Amino acid sequence: MILKGKRILVGVTGSIAAYKTAILTRLLIKSGAEVQLVATTSALDFITPLTLATLSKRPVLSAFFEKSSGQWHNHVELGLWADLFLVAPLSANTLSKFAQGACDNLLTATYLSCRCPVMLAPAMDLDMYQHPSVRANLEKVASFGNIVLDAETGELASGLSGQGRMMEPEHILERVFDFFNSKNEFGGKKVLITLGPTQEALDPVRFLSNHSSGKMGFALAQAFKAAGADVHVVAGPVALKLDGHGFQVQRVTTATEMYEATKALHGQMDVIVFAAAVADFRPESPASQKIKKQGEELPLRLFPNVDIAFELGKMKKEGQIHVGFALETEQEEVHAKAKLIRKNFDLVVLNSATEEGVGFKHDTNQVRIFNKNGGDVQTALLPKLDIARLIVEEVKKAAAWS
Ligand code: PMT
Repeated sequence: MILKGKRILVGVTGSIAAYKTAILTRLLIKSGAEVQLVATTSALDFITPLTLATLSKRPVLSAFFEKSSGQWHNHVELGLWADLFLVAPLSANTLSKFAQGACDNLLTATYLSCRCPVMLAPAMDLDMYQHPSVRANLEKVASFGNIVLDAETGELASGLSGQGRMMEPEHILERVFDFFNSKNEFGGKKVLITLGPTQEALDPVRFLSNHSSGKMGFALAQAFKAAGADVHVVAGPVALKLDGHGFQVQRVTTATEMYEATKALHGQMDVIVFAAAVADFRPESPASQKIKKQGEELPLRLFPNVDIAFELGKMKKEGQIHVGFALETEQEEVHAKAKLIRKNFDLVVLNSATEEGVGFKHDTNQVRIFNKNGGDVQTALLPKLDIARLIVEEVKKAAAWS
């Protein structure tokens, strides 16, 4: 009864995979959870409310107002009741509404008002799932802090074969177990994450920077938050929406500002993860006016920036864990291990700047995690949130207090 006492709101939307929600509901109930189903009207074209109500032992809610009983279903109360809102299957239509903040039925209103974490299990046909608008919407809802479960690959209802099937109920159940199991492992612990690039001004309109999107750091913040940590983020200029996820966020622009913000928090932290791609150099003195074209060349003199991880590594307290990243293009292992020692890291996460789907900007990453005792964990190419979860596991193993 791993889920005993957990309240799970299960959202069902219009997809043939809605039949699997019956199996999922049964599995959640057998694991001890209390389950309340909220369905769109098109979901009920695919599965009867009687089946779901019988399995969940509660009536299925679909409309704000039920004429027959005169009952009003309060979406705010539903959202507050739940420990987790799991939408399975999530159709392209409801996904688009979640991405836009649309609110035209009980399920979308509950999504907008709920305060608990949200887990989404999309289900679509092959080309729908790959459509750029769907990919963009999935990325957008993930950037809001929702946990997006990848669709599985196999035979689809259309007869086509490929990725798009809703994750199997047994696999979703595992993810729900992971979610609740990991929830308090970092309870009471403070974790600081640096993320994104820094920008170093050349003049008032130009800067030196790099391609970091902040996605890896954001995934780490989500994973530590899910593990119960009090998460602080010092973010360089990124487009990601970082507010509203329960992190304390400070936005900075330059390496010097990132150093000041990180140093000020460092002493109170149990874990610091240096995921930011900090510019190693800055222009000697940024021009106060826009630099005009004069001749063919513009000599640029650069000064080294502070190495934040190195400086804070010198101040590391007993029991604190420092996790670094290494982004390399050659002799990757050698450079990563050298950084582990030089910057006084407990763990260093090596990612390549040259492999497909790895490093900057991608939603996926593939890493090796080296620890100071010689440990070496190699991951597959996985969504950044899964990589973040593996890093959280390694931090847990490395921490004396775990
Ligand atoms: O943001 P994404 O688009 O998701 O991409 C993720 C990422 C590739 C940026 C991330 O996974 C990553 O590798 N971050 C570190 C990139 C980097 O700057 O690596 P480095 O090998 O140059 O630096 C080594 C370590 O020292 C890093 O932990 C870095 O944060 C830190 N550092 C570096 C320079 C500096 N002046 N101060 C630092 O603290």
